[in-house]
Amino acid sequence: MSTTVNPSSTAVRPPRAPAALPLVGHGLQLVRRRLEFLQEVRAHGPVVRVRLGPTTAYLVNDHTLLHQLLVTDAARFPRGIHFQKAKSVAGNGIITASGAAHRRQRRLVLPAFNRKKVHVYGEVMREFAAARVAAWPEGEPIELKPEFVSLATTIATKSLFATELGTAAVATVERALPVLTRGVSLRAMDPTGLLEKLPTSANRRFAATMRELHTVIDQIIASYRGREQSGDDLLSMFMIARDEETGEGMTDEQLRDEVISILLSSAETTALTMSWACHELGRNPEVFRRLQAEVDTVTGGEPPRYEQLSELDLTRRIVKETLRLYPPTYFLSRSAVGDIELGGYLIPDGSTVLYSFYSQHRDPALFRDPDRFDPDRWLPERSADVTPAAYVAFGEGAHRCVGEAFAYAEAMTTLATIAGQRTLHPVPGRPVRPVGTVTLSPSDLKMAFRRRPR
Ligand code: HEM
Repeated sequence: MSTTVNPSSTAVRPPRAPAALPLVGHGLQLVRRRLEFLQEVRAHGPVVRVRLGPTTAYLVNDHTLLHQLLVTDAARFPRGIHFQKAKSVAGNGIITASGAAHRRQRRLVLPAFNRKKVHVYGEVMREFAAARVAAWPEGEPIELKPEFVSLATTIATKSLFATELGTAAVATVERALPVLTRGVSLRAMDPTGLLEKLPTSANRRFAATMRELHTVIDQIIASYRGREQSGDDLLSMFMIARDEETGEGMTDEQLRDEVISILLSSAETTALTMSWACHELGRNPEVFRRLQAEVDTVTGGEPPRYEQLSELDLTRRIVKETLRLYPPTYFLSRSAVGDIELGGYLIPDGSTVLYSFYSQHRDPALFRDPDRFDPDRWLPERSADVTPAAYVAFGEGAHRCVGEAFAYAEAMTTLATIAGQRTLHPVPGRPVRPVGTVTLSPSDLKMAFRRRPR
């Protein structure tokens, strides 16, 4: 249990992770071989100290302590630097707000993601996944990550804005998202905050992209304000939401911040899930054949309707298992407010606390044969022995993902559409490796698709 440290505390400093270099500490390892490093340090204790240049961060390796960090003691471990730096993009949206402001925004945003609403976006998913898969050239290699980022961006934008203006916004959003994501990660790596103020071409491009995106979103919000009837897209849901306590809705600026928050948190994460799932299905043809059989039985090989997703058991398990092996948001942080004792270790006030879902999901103490892609480990009779807090792909606690049902619906719709219509062929070349930067991406993942003989 973690408590604020009192003078009689016996809390000790956690052990230091091995092989720190002079000056850089563990910085080089985190840059060059981050995923290996994160797994190796598990052996050194439930909490280890990691030196990043002149500062010390605390890496939590134990799922019960992670639960305390994210749930039980969340109030004393607010979000870390990544999220503060996202403020230059997402303003005070749900992904950057903290404390009472965050709780209010979350209350306003959550209703837009309930099952009934995801049903509506399910139609968008089906339409765009079907069109995209139908357009793939026969047997030609496709680079999966950008392809799925483009699909997921279209789905997110059309789910946010179900109007003609939404169709026009897709291209702007597609251009903007990579610039913004990169801008946020570069800013997060510069604690001085100086780099973002320099008149570099990257900073000018970032500012111009932000202006362009704001203009497009503001136009759409203004057009919605002038409508007589509300629609049933995400933006309409955000506009009719009222705070139970104050009765207030969101201002135009808050709406814009929420739109950007959703774009930033949804497209890349879901695209990576679909990319990694195809990778594993390519390596496990037997699982792909079973997936095809399931889709044939449930939909007759057609792209699934939302209400059919509940019958696609294996498809769901494939998504879940993909997210275990390759959690897109695999490495996150919080910061300690006050000197805090966590599992008998002292975390000093202001320290950065790091944790990795990737490392936890591949811990042999939590998952049998952890590196193996085995969707059937999630069958009810087998999953009973998985420790519930071990699987955390969507986070836990006050900031737990609001888009889980949306992400499942999108990934399942797309995978089932592929399985119903296509066969899948890995392209020989260099082995595909997970690369951990802000998200967990495949090093180089191409795949060819052929139409299924009917
Ligand atoms: C497979 C895809 C996805 C994964 C793995 C994922 C994962 C996560 C995780 C781990 C968090 C918690 C971050 C933290 O604790 O600091 C989070 C938060 C969030 N996610 Fe997702 N996400 C996915 C898809 C989506 C989608 C599709 C949407 C929206 C359509 C979305 C919207 C959000 C939002 C708004 C938050 C912030 C919640 C808050 O702070 O209260 N995510 N996501």
